[in-house]
Amino acid sequence: MNFTPEQIEQVKLISDKLGNFKEELLKIDYVHNKPEFFKIMKEFRKYLVDISKECDFEVFKHSKNFEDYRNFFTEINEYYVRSIEAMQALSVMTQWIHNFNHFSELIDKDFVRESFIRKEKELAPLKLSKDKKFVMAWSGPFPETLLYIYENTEIENILWLDYNHEAIYMSGELLNWLGLDNISFKHVDAIEYDYKDADIVSIPIFVPLKTEIINQAIKTWKDDIQILVASPKWFLNLIYKPLCNITPRANITYREDLSTDFIYQEIIKIEKFKF
Ligand SMILES: C[S@@+](CC[C@H](N)C(=O)[O-])C[C@H]1O[C@@H](n2cnc3c(N)ncnc32)[C@H](O)[C@@H]1O
Repeated sequence: MNFTPEQIEQVKLISDKLGNFKEELLKIDYVHNKPEFFKIMKEFRKYLVDISKECDFEVFKHSKNFEDYRNFFTEINEYYVRSIEAMQALSVMTQWIHNFNHFSELIDKDFVRESFIRKEKELAPLKLSKDKKFVMAWSGPFPETLLYIYENTEIENILWLDYNHEAIYMSGELLNWLGLDNISFKHVDAIEYDYKDADIVSIPIFVPLKTEIINQAIKTWKDDIQILVASPKWFLNLIYKPLCNITPRANITYREDLSTDFIYQEIIKIEKFKF
């Protein structure tokens, strides 16, 4: 495989810029200096989206720093997302705002607000109706997707899974605080859950084991199941694991890119081949 001198020069520039972000993040004590940490991560994620629109990720994947950057940035991004969500949940429960019309009024963290707003487009490929059982293969400390579904769809039967104690505890406290007590949750690894009664399974970009969860679901899946997966595109593969090696039993009925200032992903809908 031969790359042009321009392509190689571009990879060098990107590598240097990512190296600077890594150095900055290693320099600050990101546990105790959240404002600085959040500021750098916001710039970094915006940079990943910008270069995804301009530069050739397929060339960058061959660069010597790719693996090291992916391991470093994937781990620090998980900490970033969890910390912002935990702060968002605490902020809601400590602001004592009881009279609100929409959950969006409670969300004051940009990252969570941006995620909440894009749900409309993310969930658009799904056929949603009152009788459907919606299984979310995750929740997080602040379950904005769950709040969006609760407020904007007829779906009543929502089950969310999470294998992280803190996420379960924090989201549980938040849902109690919001009085949303008709939502069930399970502390389980989504790759071990039995999806036999699920009508809809949603797997977000954050969840690393996307392929494994699909392979688990197909063991007992219903005929008319809908599985919705968000998978990273281009340089967002430096912070999220992509969906790959999709089983031939999976019928991909929808596949569209969805990008905002802070995310570049593809939304994939999987149904069952009926033969
Ligand atoms: C940080 S949240 C982000 C989602 C966001 N809160 C939302 O509502 O769209 C993602 C959560 O997925 C959970 N998670 C990741 N992989 C999982 C798996 N295999 N099984 C269960 N939970 C998983 C993590 O513990 C984390 O709490």
